[in-house]
Amino acid sequence: MDRIKLGIVGLGRLGRHHAENIRFRIPNAVLRAVCSVVKEELDDAISTLQPDYATLRYEELLSDPELDGIVIATNSAYHCEMICRAAEAGVKHIYCEKPLGMNQKEIDQIREAMAKSKVRVFQIGFNRRFDRSIREMKKKLDEGLIGKPILLKFTSRDPRWREEDLLRFSPSSGGLIFDMLTHDYDLARWFTGSEAVQIHGYGGIYEYGKLRELKDWDNCALLMRFRNGMMVFMETSRNCAYGYHAEIEAFGTHGALRMGYPPSRDRLEHFTPMGMGRGCPQWFFEYWEPTFQAELQHFVTCIQEGREPEVSLLDGYEAVRWALAATEAVRTGKEVTL
Ligand SMILES: NC(=O)c1ccc[n+]([C@@H]2O[C@H](COP(=O)([O-])OP(=O)(O)OC[C@H]3O[C@@H](n4cnc5c(N)ncnc54)[C@H](O)[C@@H]3O)[C@@H](O)[C@H]2O)c1
Repeated sequence: MDRIKLGIVGLGRLGRHHAENIRFRIPNAVLRAVCSVVKEELDDAISTLQPDYATLRYEELLSDPELDGIVIATNSAYHCEMICRAAEAGVKHIYCEKPLGMNQKEIDQIREAMAKSKVRVFQIGFNRRFDRSIREMKKKLDEGLIGKPILLKFTSRDPRWREEDLLRFSPSSGGLIFDMLTHDYDLARWFTGSEAVQIHGYGGIYEYGKLRELKDWDNCALLMRFRNGMMVFMETSRNCAYGYHAEIEAFGTHGALRMGYPPSRDRLEHFTPMGMGRGCPQWFFEYWEPTFQAELQHFVTCIQEGREPEVSLLDGYEAVRWALAATEAVRTGKEVTL
């Protein structure tokens, strides 16, 4: 079977890792093209990843007849434009980092462009669905190990940001809820097979006072009721003093399932006069690294086998719709009904 030729747009924090995975770790894929508006990133990719070509203009990829699909890993504000242009140009297979778009208008526009297009495989970057423990948790929930599920609890804490970085990042990311909790919402939908109907939440600024001007928060907690009756609690932070912490617990009538606690970097424990301890992961990539390879491997395999990806356009769409509603709930202090 021919290998799948991919072009990637965006070679930043995450795009660069995706490009390396395509080039070195996904045997049935070829890194044909790389694109970035940062010349140094392109120069580095040319020498270390040896794509067939590199370009500053993503439009070049869209008119390349050799390319089987594109991977979009640019800043979130460009996702809508790039997905729509790729769909209109006849690109057959598209992977895009989360979020699908930044507002309701964008995600509607994407859905319309996709409906008119010939795109066969579309996958959104909900990489956590490819985590081994999370997949096992879903399987055990479906098998009824903990009986009837009652409550899901999600913790998503980023290590403490440098204030200037956070102030630069916050407006382009869509804010704390939009950026940090989108994976958790996707997992809650996947685990429950249901959608949120009522959302209540509180946010606050506990460390980065200048976020007030940007109408963002550094910590928040949400409580939701899902259509199937389940309760879902999510909390998130931009200033976790001990590192990166992602944890999930499902509680049911016959027991509980829990992953990510304690937040360990590895299986090593140290014993000193200070006591016993374990290292915490220090950023998201370190914790989720294997899932980024697995999700792109899935994308490539779906293209080769003509399969529907496990993570679809609708999943991306619903997560954005929810993120907008949750942000509204925290901003107004009122319960939002979806
Ligand atoms: N799945 C996850 O857990 C996860 C984690 C981090 C980031 N992300 C998502 O990945 C995306 C990228 O985030 P990042 O942190 O890597 O960003 P980044 O700022 O580090 O990199 C952005 C890249 O996009 C390129 N770019 C921007 N505009 C472009 C254009 N018009 N044409 C071509 N290239 C362009 C830049 O040159 C740069 O290479 C975001 O949408 C973010 O939400 C997902």
